[in-house]
Parts: sequence; structure tokens; C-alpha cells
Amino acid sequence: APGSEYQAEDATIAQGVVESDHAGFTGTGFVNLDNVPGSSVEFTVNSATAGTKTLTIRFANGTTAGRPMDVLVNGTLAAGGKPFDPTGAWTAWTETSAPVTLQAGANTVRLVSTTANGGPNLDRISL
Ligand code: GCU
Ligand code: CA
Ligand code: CA
Repeated sequence: APGSEYQAEDATIAQGVVESDHAGFTGTGFVNLDNVPGSSVEFTVNSATAGTKTLTIRFANGTTAGRPMDVLVNGTLAAGGKPFDPTGAWTAWTETSAPVTLQAGANTVRLVSTTANGGPNLDRISL
């Protein structure tokens, strides 16, 4: 079945702002996380069934350094220090994926910056 998309600019943001100054995003913008450890975005996603799905995150990283993030699902670490490698420009968006285990109904997916560089710019997730 086709996945659902959840825009980062509609998610719950801690230490970050919604912006639209780098072209190529989907929806109405993207989240520019503060460049500090702990800056985060939390999505509420619904799943008809319990089980493993592929979480795909669309992002841009216009720097030359990785911007790793922890991925937590329902408060449990699903991927620690997941890499978000340089994409070449803030307007160069790409996707990275990780398997996540969901419960039936509502789930939280939280992305948390793990270094002083903060996270990449985040456009959306899909799963
Ligand atoms: C620049 C860029 C932002 C980005 C930031 C960063 O300011 O315009 O979109 O979030 O760098 O380094 O995180
Ligand atoms: Ca930033
Ligand atoms: Ca977006």
C-alpha cells in the first residue's frame, strides 16, 4: 500500500523554526533545527496495523559535516545517531530510510539532533 506523508513544518518542533528559503522542499516549507544537541521534531503517525514499516526522511544538509540524529518511536530508540550526510547544498534534498516498528493506531516518531551542529533541514517523513 502507498505510504503516508507527514510534513515536518506541521510537526511539533522543539528548538527550531519553519522556513522556506531553500527551494526544493515539499509542502509549505521545512524545519530548520537549531544547531544544538537535542533540537527535535516530533510527528504523530497513524498505522492501521502493528508491525515494521520503512520510515523515510527527506532532508538537506548543505554543510560538509554529517548531522546525525536519534530516531525514537513511541519514546524508544529505533536508530541511534542515524547519519544525515552532506547533500551538497541546502537546496539539494534527498531521502534516507530506516525500519521502524509501529503499533496499531497513533505512534510518535521523534528525530533528535545528537551533535552541536544540530540536525539537517527536515522536509517530511513518509512511511
Ligand atoms: C544556514 C541555512 C539553514 C541551516 C543552517 C544550519 O543558516 O540557511 O537553512 O539550517 O545553515 O547550518 O543548520
Ligand atoms: Ca539549522
Ligand atoms: Ca515540507
